[in-house]
Amino acid sequence: MADPATDPASLEKEFLAAIENASTLSELEEVRLAALGKKGRVSELLKSLGGMTAEERQEQGPIINGLKQTLSQALDHRKSSLEIEALNIRLAAETEDVTLPVQPRALSDGRLHPISQVTEEIVTIFADMGFSVAEGPDVETDFHNFTALNIPESHPARQMHDTFYFEENEDGERLLLRTHTSPVQIRTMEAGEPPFRFIAPGRTYRCDSDQTHTPMFHQVEGLVIDKDTHLGHLKWVLETFLSAFFEVDGVGLRLRPSYFPFTEPSMEVDVQCARAGNEIRIGEGTDWMEILGCGMVHPNVLTNVGIDPEVYQGFAFGMGIDRLAMLKYGMPDLRAFFDADLRWLRHYGFSALNVPTLQRGLSVDEGI
Ligand code: DAH
Repeated sequence: MADPATDPASLEKEFLAAIENASTLSELEEVRLAALGKKGRVSELLKSLGGMTAEERQEQGPIINGLKQTLSQALDHRKSSLEIEALNIRLAAETEDVTLPVQPRALSDGRLHPISQVTEEIVTIFADMGFSVAEGPDVETDFHNFTALNIPESHPARQMHDTFYFEENEDGERLLLRTHTSPVQIRTMEAGEPPFRFIAPGRTYRCDSDQTHTPMFHQVEGLVIDKDTHLGHLKWVLETFLSAFFEVDGVGLRLRPSYFPFTEPSMEVDVQCARAGNEIRIGEGTDWMEILGCGMVHPNVLTNVGIDPEVYQGFAFGMGIDRLAMLKYGMPDLRAFFDADLRWLRHYGFSALNVPTLQRGLSVDEGI
């Protein structure tokens, strides 16, 4: 009777079963070593060929070598299927489900500040009239904030601006926090060639604080320069903007003579409104409310940026974004804008998905 420990047929059966049962690559490696390793049982069997007679060897040789080959093939086969299995397990563990629905909570929690929303509304309306958006730095030179705008040193308008100054630098120059967005007119004209048609929204600073003033606030500047720009264009642009912004057809406007050093003539613009208690309704009633300053750009300002005022002329305007936001959305206290109170922001803020567009409407906030 053949010894099952060394009988090739029994060994084949035993090892094929072990190969099939190995469930990991390291278990399979153990089986390989036990069969075909240096001291493996099939290897020992191969070595035993040396001690056989030629006749025995002729008979046993092909059987034992056949066994070795069968097991090697079975090992290779099992190895590649275990490798595929291991890869599949890893891939399954590393999967990320990109189809997860957006969490409605996170959306309703995050809010855009009314200033951001209103700035977007303003930009959208002016973009439709062909205005681009210009920018300038918050920290300005005296030249850009005052001198180039026809406000020379000792001009009384400088006192009215309650300027925050920095300490003098080595050159004796005192930088400042811009007190209005008008210096962006100067910078943009210096950097380009006429014609110009742009707005410049941004932060502005004055040393002032009460219910309607904060040390940091926001303005938007507008400038149009061309060869035949006139006051009629200015009036049309303001009417079109204010009607679109307050979402009333043909809002009533009143232009009052005023004074700004950088415009001549200068005007203040009032919008028609109705007051009832604390409520103000723009575009209705018989009252007036001051809303912005404007005028035809002073020839000195054009000369200061190298533009010939005999050839080019145009208009400028400036208004407070915070005030526009308060009027449109009925927010009574300016200081609350900058308190970072989440309850206030949840109440007055806007959904991040409620981007103002002319086609969808500027201030729709339904169901988002
Ligand atoms: N810069 C002015 C201010 O801060 C606002 C202003 C008035 C800007 C008239 C203008 C303008 O461009 O023409 O009070």
